[in-house]
Amino acid sequence: MAMNEPIEWSSDGSPHSLRFNDRYRSRAGGVAQALYVFLAGCGLPERWRNASAFTVLETGFGLGLNFLTTWAAWEIDEQRCNTLHFVSVEAYPVAAADIARSALAADPSGTADAPLLARVQALAQQLVNAWPDLSPGIHRLRFAEGRVQLTLAVGEVLPMLRHLDCAADAVYLDGFSPARNPDMWSHAALQAVARHCRAGTTLATYTVARGVRETLAQLGFRVEKRTGLAPKRHCLAAVFGSAAP
Ligand SMILES: C[S@@+](CC[C@H](N)C(=O)[O-])C[C@H]1O[C@@H](n2cnc3c(N)ncnc32)[C@H](O)[C@@H]1O
Repeated sequence: MAMNEPIEWSSDGSPHSLRFNDRYRSRAGGVAQALYVFLAGCGLPERWRNASAFTVLETGFGLGLNFLTTWAAWEIDEQRCNTLHFVSVEAYPVAAADIARSALAADPSGTADAPLLARVQALAQQLVNAWPDLSPGIHRLRFAEGRVQLTLAVGEVLPMLRHLDCAADAVYLDGFSPARNPDMWSHAALQAVARHCRAGTTLATYTVARGVRETLAQLGFRVEKRTGLAPKRHCLAAVFGSAAP
């Protein structure tokens, strides 16, 4: 059985990584960050409304809050697509108990929409109940009678991205900060992400680090800075295939 990654819970209830000495999510809270930076940055929920199936590729599953918030937003959207596939890469999976605790602490500012937050917390319980023994390799979990599929690729980002078979409609880049976690933002890793993209694939991340912006632009993304989720000034949104590679 694989060892679970330890989480340090700080006095304000937010999760930290001892390995990377960084926060798992924005000070504004995980649900707020997922909705604003990742979903809205990728044009969701609107973009899945014209599709029958929609695939999100994420780097860094962590505490699963981006997945849970995406699933909850999909679930409450009357115009949702038929199938949501969420594919995420994670080298250091956490324990199920930390996923449950994270969902309960997902809205420290108390600003999230109450029904959505309640859905996130209920879905977290489903994820906890299904949480597998995360040995290295590909794990597939099915929820909502198979309409929501989670593919967890447990292992180092680069080999797992190269191994995965996935056509992404949207990409969430959610490694720890590029300065502390460079492997998640390397040219090779972002190139491996781009190989899963097609014209119109949207991408979002909380960082606007110059190296990340430049690499994405070189790989064929049109990159735009958006207003950030406070206290961050900016975040990033990009579209694949609309810039000269
Ligand atoms: C900011 S956290 C992700 C938060 C997550 N998206 C959520 O919603 O809770 C970054 C994640 O990247 C993972 N990670 C860091 N370096 C990695 C690597 N080289 N390969 C794969 N995963 C990595 C960390 O273990 C951590 O879970």
